[in-house]
Amino acid sequence: MAMLKSPLAFLVLAFALFLCFIMSTGSYVYFQFVQQWPPATCIRSKKPCSKHRALQNFTIHGLWPSNYSNPTRPSNCVGSHFNESKLSPQLISKLRISWPDVESGNDTQFWEGEWNKHGKCSQEKLNQMQYFERSHDMWMSYNITDILKNASIVPHPTQTWTYSDIVSAIKSKTQRTPLVRCKRDPAPNKNAPNSQLLHEVVFCYEYKAKKQIDCNRTAGCWNNVDIKFPP
Ligand SMILES: *[C@@H]1O[C@H](CO)[C@@H](O)[C@H](O)[C@H]1NC(C)=O
Ligand SMILES: *[C@@H]1O[C@H](CO)[C@@H](O)[C@H](O)[C@H]1NC(C)=O
Ligand SMILES: *[C@@H]1O[C@H](CO)[C@@H](O)[C@H](O)[C@H]1NC(C)=O
Ligand SMILES: *[C@@H]1O[C@H](CO)[C@@H](O)[C@H](O)[C@H]1NC(C)=O
Ligand SMILES: *[C@@H]1O[C@H](CO)[C@@H](O)[C@H](O)[C@H]1NC(C)=O
Ligand SMILES: *[C@@H]1O[C@H](CO)[C@@H](O)[C@H](O)[C@H]1NC(C)=O
Ligand SMILES: *[C@@H]1O[C@H](CO)[C@@H](O)[C@H](O)[C@H]1NC(C)=O
Repeated sequence: MAMLKSPLAFLVLAFALFLCFIMSTGSYVYFQFVQQWPPATCIRSKKPCSKHRALQNFTIHGLWPSNYSNPTRPSNCVGSHFNESKLSPQLISKLRISWPDVESGNDTQFWEGEWNKHGKCSQEKLNQMQYFERSHDMWMSYNITDILKNASIVPHPTQTWTYSDIVSAIKSKTQRTPLVRCKRDPAPNKNAPNSQLLHEVVFCYEYKAKKQIDCNRTAGCWNNVDIKFPP
């Protein structure tokens, strides 16, 4: 009853509860951890792609705080600007392998762009060091090239696979549904006149970026179009 007599107190309380809600849920709901296949990234790239030699490894594109209801996901949030001195030299040397800038060759610039566009949006949970450390650990946890190789899916100039061939191979290892993203094939051939290229594999993680969960976005490939894994 006292509260009804004091609308101001009520508003303050409501505002405090609202702040708690914001702080507990943040501006994102889950993470998309995106790894790219460098040869596919470099096909038709306008950039020099001088580091395009990593034929054994999928490499990190980014760790993106995401929101189910808003597909353009949070991005360019308010937060502290990228500062390389906040990363340890040990981590930097690991990131040069797991998170290289395959297109332009300036790794720092790539990390800076990803942190400023995406990392800041999950700063409430992961500071800059943690964000890059966690991404590297995610990269280490599964070797996509190796998983695909065990399912006889290996880089080949003409052979093709279906979306579900690729997803099932990965899912049988991770127990979680990944998302696969494709790119238009600039050089289809008569075996595969309507093909697309395997470009990126996305793993989803819950809010704390610790536990992997199923991804449920719609596929990032064209339906019923064969997929090449370009060498
Ligand atoms: C997700 O995005 C929607 C639409 O932009 C927004 O209304 C909602 O608050 C966001 N969710 C969170 C947890 O930020
Ligand atoms: C692929 O990753 C392994 C393991 O970290 C590393 O030893 C190797 O140098 C990487 N290959 C390339 C081309 O970066
Ligand atoms: C970058 O981080 C280092 C180490 O935390 C700090 O000493 C320095 O002042 C920071 N630079 C900027 C521009 O914030
Ligand atoms: C790489 O990018 C960083 C950050 O944008 C910049 O400070 C640096 O000068 C660049 N290095 C080269 C060699 O262009
Ligand atoms: C992943 O597996 C491939 C093929 O088995 C191997 O060449 C590569 O070094 C491995 N990469 C990492 C990061 O362990
Ligand atoms: C692939 O198969 C080899 C040999 O059976 C096995 O040692 C390796 O752990 C497998 N890798 C994956 C990612 O399943
Ligand atoms: C994906 O899963 C989340 C969480 O379970 C749910 O809120 C969302 O509606 C699902 N989206 C689709 C497209 O199924």
